[in-house]
Parts: sequence; structure tokens; C-alpha cells
Amino acid sequence: MAESTPENWRRTDEFLSDLLVGHDPGLEAALAAQTDGGLPAIEVAPVSGKLLNLLARMSGARRVLEIGTLGGYSTIWLARGVGDGGEVVTIEAEPANAAIARASIDAAGVGERVAIRIGRAADVLPTLAGSDPFDLVFIDADKESNTIYLDWAARLGRAGTVVVVDNIGREGEIVDESTTDPMVIGTRDGLRMLAEDPRFDATALQTVGIKGWDGVALAIVASSGS
Ligand code: DHB
Ligand code: MG
Repeated sequence: MAESTPENWRRTDEFLSDLLVGHDPGLEAALAAQTDGGLPAIEVAPVSGKLLNLLARMSGARRVLEIGTLGGYSTIWLARGVGDGGEVVTIEAEPANAAIARASIDAAGVGERVAIRIGRAADVLPTLAGSDPFDLVFIDADKESNTIYLDWAARLGRAGTVVVVDNIGREGEIVDESTTDPMVIGTRDGLRMLAEDPRFDATALQTVGIKGWDGVALAIVASSGS
């Protein structure tokens, strides 16, 4: 058996990506534009992008909410998942990121399905109330605000809405009770909310691969409670 090292996690992830995800010019151009624009390479891994796409299709999602657009990589995966006539609303705090994402999403051919809302998510989310419920919510922004985002996911969703939270492992720091890192504290508070808030039923998976050691939480909205 190979040793469990970051290098071997990476090689295995690349093998799985090559085998099961393959290559997509629109997605790869989005990554190149993100790099050229000086954005950090903190988008989801290809296998995780494909997971988002499959979750959207498995759940029959037509309306998706994404919190944290970055360069639009996961947005394109989700927009492909909602199909023709589907819709992705994605929130990005940084206008320069949103401009790069807009160009990449349009170039990938899914521009008509994607609305980018620029602003801090905590300010934008209340403005989305009153529209049709979202079928899937992907939370991948500032981790300090995860409980706020989960609250809005439940409010803007419906019973059965799928909720995905990125970065729930944080290299194992999540179990460090003495941490003072606000991103770790915010992430753990979000996980506790998924456990304790009756509006959710959740689990989480650790992941290793090209993005290191991290993980993703998956939840269903049991009742929107609103
Ligand atoms: C960070 C944020 C992410 O969403 C991610 O996937 C990896 C890292 C970060 O802010 O460090
Ligand atoms: Mg992330």
C-alpha cells in the first residue's frame, strides 16, 4: 500500500480527475483567468466541482444559490448542473473577482443562467427573500459568517433543499478547541449549527487531494422554519 502523504493524495486525486472528470475548456479557461487575475487558487478541486454538478442534477435543482463566487469555477459547474432554463444566483464581495467570473462564465456558455450579485453576502442575502425558494445552496465564502449563511440557506430554501458547505476540515484544525483562528471557529460554529438546528439534517466528509486535507458538509433542509 502507498504511504498516506500529501503527494500521494495529490497523485490519486489527479488520477480520479483524469478518469472521471476529464477536461473541459470552459472550466480550464476559468482557472487560467483566475490565475492571470491574481486570485488565490482556492476554488474547489475538479472532483468536488463535479460533485456539486452531480448533486444539482441528482436533486433536480433548477434554482441554485452560491455564496462566494471567486473566479466562477464552481459557478460554472453548478450552472451546467441546473440545465437549460435553470438559474444560479452567486454572491461575490469583491467586484474585481466578479468581473473575472462574469467573463469566464459567459465564455463557458452559461452566462444566461447566472446572475452575479456583488456585495457582502450578509447584505445581499436579505434582498433575495420573497423569490422562489432555492433548491441547492453552496456556501464557500468567509468562514467566519457560516452560521449567518446557514440561517439564510434555511430561510431561502424549502424542505428538501440541499446545502453544501466547503472547507469543513481545515487540515484537522477543526478539532482544536484552543484555536483562536476565526475561520476555524466560524467553521466549527457552522457545523454545530448543522447538528443542533432542527432545520437541518447533515453529515460531513473529510477530503484529501490536490487541495490538501479538508472536507465538505452535506445537509438537507428539514423544514425552512420561516
Ligand atoms: C480558503 C477558502 C476556501 O473557500 C477554500 O476552499 C480554501 C481556502 C481560505 O480562505 O483560506
Ligand atoms: Mg472553499
